[in-house]
Amino acid sequence: MKRPVLILGATSAIARATANALAEKGYSLYLASRDEQELGRIAQDLRVRYHTDVQYGFYDIGNLERNPLFFQQVLQRTGELEGVILAIGELGKQTAAIHDFNEAEKIIRRNYVGACAILTPCADYMEKLKKGFIVAITSVAGDRGRQSNYVYGSAKGGLTIFLQGLRNRLSASGVQVMTVKPGFVDTAMTFGLPGMFLVAQPSQVGNAIVRGIEKKKNEIYVPWFWSTIMGVIKCIPERLFKNMKL
Ligand SMILES: NC(=O)c1ccc[n+]([C@@H]2O[C@H](COP(=O)([O-])OP(=O)(O)OC[C@H]3O[C@@H](n4cnc5c(N)ncnc54)[C@H](OP(=O)(O)O)[C@@H]3O)[C@@H](O)[C@H]2O)c1
Repeated sequence: MKRPVLILGATSAIARATANALAEKGYSLYLASRDEQELGRIAQDLRVRYHTDVQYGFYDIGNLERNPLFFQQVLQRTGELEGVILAIGELGKQTAAIHDFNEAEKIIRRNYVGACAILTPCADYMEKLKKGFIVAITSVAGDRGRQSNYVYGSAKGGLTIFLQGLRNRLSASGVQVMTVKPGFVDTAMTFGLPGMFLVAQPSQVGNAIVRGIEKKKNEIYVPWFWSTIMGVIKCIPERLFKNMKL
């Protein structure tokens, strides 16, 4: 059995697909999120399907001070980790967030501040270990600010830059830091949202994440064609872009 991987936000549809793909390859797992009952069900399913060791525990990304203790407790239960995958995210209510900063702050704390807070002890640990991987899911929404989702987009964009810096820092230690940028994915987060197109399945993202880990990628767009789409969107001059209804 391979060394364990910690999955933060393990009840997410994308994280479940990633957990399945990892367990199939023989990794053991530690699953974390706020919904312990659901984590228990996911863990049992993975154990039965793949005969691998799966532990789980409560984690709230909003509880910033608890991060170092939480991470130590995970290590006590798992022993040496192979890697960490951060899948926690919340779309929030953009229509409210553009006028009510309390709503905007929630989105920024879950998607950016909380992510940086938990990745800090993870990075220190991996740096000392001199191997392993850190994977975090940001979004194509972080590539360019648009009126329809710039609060969430700015938090994901900030996380993308944080990960770039972390990759630069940990490169000397041989630690892989991979940024995952999905387009639209069919999950609870996007259920019923209008205007979705080129929608991917969570299993496509999960499989791409595991392939990216194996190939030691720095950044992946999922599906791949989002890299072309975002390349074009990033090239549109700001004087034109600001008048577009996006
Ligand atoms: N779906 C898309 O179209 C899409 C596109 C681009 C990027 N993404 C990103 O992909 C990642 C996975 O998203 P998904 O679509 O699979 O979403 P999802 O099914 O809604 O899952 C969201 C996850 O975040 C966790 N979470 C939320 N608040 C938390 C908190 N305070 N503490 C701990 N965990 C918390 C949830 O766990 P509990 O509720 O159990 O705590 C759940 O595991 C997210 O980072 C998202 O931003 C999604």
